[in-house]
Amino acid sequence: MSERLYIFDTTLRDGEQSPGASMTRDEKIRIARQLEKLGVDIIEAGFAAASPGDAESINAIAEAIKESTICSLARANERDIRAAGEAIKPAARGRIHTFIATSPIHMEKKLRMQPDQVVEAAVAAVKLARQYTDDVEFSAEDALRSEPDFLCRIFDAVIKAGARTINVPDTVGYAVPHLTTEFFRKLIEGTPNSDQVIWSAHCHNDLGMAVANSLAAVMGGARQVECTINGLGERAGNAALEEIVMAVRTRCDVFDLETRIDTTQIVPASKLISSITGYPVQPNKAVVGANAFAHESGIHQDGVLKHRETYEIMSAESVGWSQNKLTLGKLSGRNAFRTRLQELGILPEGEEALNAAFARFKELADKKREIFDEDLRALLGDSGPDATERYRLISLKVVSETGEQPTANLVMGAQGEEHRVVAHGAGPVDAVFKAIESVAQSGADLLLYSVNAVTAGTDSQAEVTVRLSLDDMVVNGQGADIDVLVASTEAYISALNRLTTEAGRAHPQA
Ligand code: KIV
Ligand code: ZN
Repeated sequence: MSERLYIFDTTLRDGEQSPGASMTRDEKIRIARQLEKLGVDIIEAGFAAASPGDAESINAIAEAIKESTICSLARANERDIRAAGEAIKPAARGRIHTFIATSPIHMEKKLRMQPDQVVEAAVAAVKLARQYTDDVEFSAEDALRSEPDFLCRIFDAVIKAGARTINVPDTVGYAVPHLTTEFFRKLIEGTPNSDQVIWSAHCHNDLGMAVANSLAAVMGGARQVECTINGLGERAGNAALEEIVMAVRTRCDVFDLETRIDTTQIVPASKLISSITGYPVQPNKAVVGANAFAHESGIHQDGVLKHRETYEIMSAESVGWSQNKLTLGKLSGRNAFRTRLQELGILPEGEEALNAAFARFKELADKKREIFDEDLRALLGDSGPDATERYRLISLKVVSETGEQPTANLVMGAQGEEHRVVAHGAGPVDAVFKAIESVAQSGADLLLYSVNAVTAGTDSQAEVTVRLSLDDMVVNGQGADIDVLVASTEAYISALNRLTTEAGRAHPQA
């Protein structure tokens, strides 16, 4: 049997550090459930000490998730470790991931600490973390620019203090693959009791080598990789989970390692992250890009038709690309609807939420003859109108004519009152957003407007993400509808509602 490679997903922590990708507690729980379904071994759910909201989200995820280990990040100080320890308490399996920088530049310029003090802080942090859980991970931040001898010294000390996983991050994306393999080999050889711990890689993508470096680390002895869905993350991102998993699986002749990942859940996970964060997936992105399995050239098409493996090294189905499966229609009942949502892992909690979703499904089925899994995902991702929220869409009429300025006639509820406004814009979406702003007067800046067709065909639902910023707050709003203008209006209004509630918040580590 092949050895195990542990998959540590940090989409909810390092991924959330992408500008504008901050997520609400409920969104994080939805993502965590999908990661659990995907078979991720460890979910880094956040950084408890960063904000009370982060701690609360980790706590809620620890309550909800049973199959994956739930982890919180913590700097090597008492306050962070205690916050992490409290946040993961409800978890069936909880981990504290503590870190301190070890490179000369970070120790001298950022921490202003001597190497001896850094070792002392790391040991104290690991010992305190062990009072909360047996599962403690230690990271040497900026390890790939640190002195190997110093790393061996600090790793020896934290292993003696009780660390079970040793993570070697390429924090700034500086590493080069063949040297990374050597670096891991050297550390594993030079650290006493290195066989008592799992060695881990955590690579950033500043030079586009995060996945290559992670795999190189595996060749050098790492048995845990830290990664994110779609490679989301700080700056140029982290190593992409889907690429690492599929590389290890497709090239088992080279790696001879097994993961616990259900690869058919990769594309649903990718779509969920993309729709919640508003970060689109580039069409030519490996594994999860829309063109990853599209064959354009005649020679390739001919080859694939004759024998798929002439031009495909893995199948689209194996990573969860469905054949636009027709699931439900106008005549489907509530039971069939509930069963399909359950199969897809998107069943909302509580009868009231299910009833509301079913009512929206019926409305959609009236307009669209065939309802696909993607439609259901979009429908459930869009929470629909909520009478308790500050702003809501009542009705919309948009006139767009060649040579004329588009006009939006909007009726919108704001704090219990009905407002009727007319606005003009450069295009129809611009007119709608101006109409909304003339009522809300939020003064927010529009950072992102993205539209995605959920299925093929011109009767596809449009899934729209709007990202707004106001002062130090950045929020995303989503809307889904067959009418792209209605979806856009809902997305803008949903973002405005978030700006006015606790759900919207500053970047956790700002
Ligand atoms: O990139 C990094 O060094 C990190 C650590 C906190 C593990 O994210
Ligand atoms: Zn990182």
